[in-house]
Amino acid sequence: DKNKLDRVKARIDAIPDFPKPGILFRDIFPVLSDHGAFSDLIDLMTSHVKSLSVDVVIGLDARGFLLGPIIAQNLQLPFVPIRKKGKLPGKTIQVEYKLEYGSDIFELQVDSVKEGQRIVIVDDLLATGGTMSAACQLVTKANATTVECLVVIELKDLDGRSKVPSKVHSLVEY
Ligand code: PRP
Repeated sequence: DKNKLDRVKARIDAIPDFPKPGILFRDIFPVLSDHGAFSDLIDLMTSHVKSLSVDVVIGLDARGFLLGPIIAQNLQLPFVPIRKKGKLPGKTIQVEYKLEYGSDIFELQVDSVKEGQRIVIVDDLLATGGTMSAACQLVTKANATTVECLVVIELKDLDGRSKVPSKVHSLVEY
């Protein structure tokens, strides 16, 4: 597992001054463009999620959609998306969350998650924790339980973990 993690880490890029001056952007797409590293990442995430015995894998718009469905398929579990507002048809439950400037709304389709189900929420990265915290609130509104929030990358300096009401697990920390 150490070797797998090292191969994943080697493919995470750091781009200075993106999307704004002073921000060091951590990019997971080079992992996906390397078939072996992507396979290692999915193996690590799948075996971790397996140990949680969850009922549903939730992925967050947009990069959680690259990882969550593959993990769900590997474990024969349902995948459910949380999306930014106006993208999901039918009845949804919503939660507003703060961004650096202003706010946005996250949505979950009603009945996509059932009362009492055990959930893992998957995303690429935890920064301030605002996004993951909003996702946890939606799961709570759906009367389900967030067993864990699983991210590939955690930016430790921002202490996003302290904002998230459920347990956070990250594979790579900066
Ligand atoms: C990024 C990232 C997380 C979120 C983390 O998504 O993929 O979802 O930010 O930031 P936070 O912990 O400070 O809330 P982004 O907002 O860029 O949206 P996108 O995936 O749709 O591009």
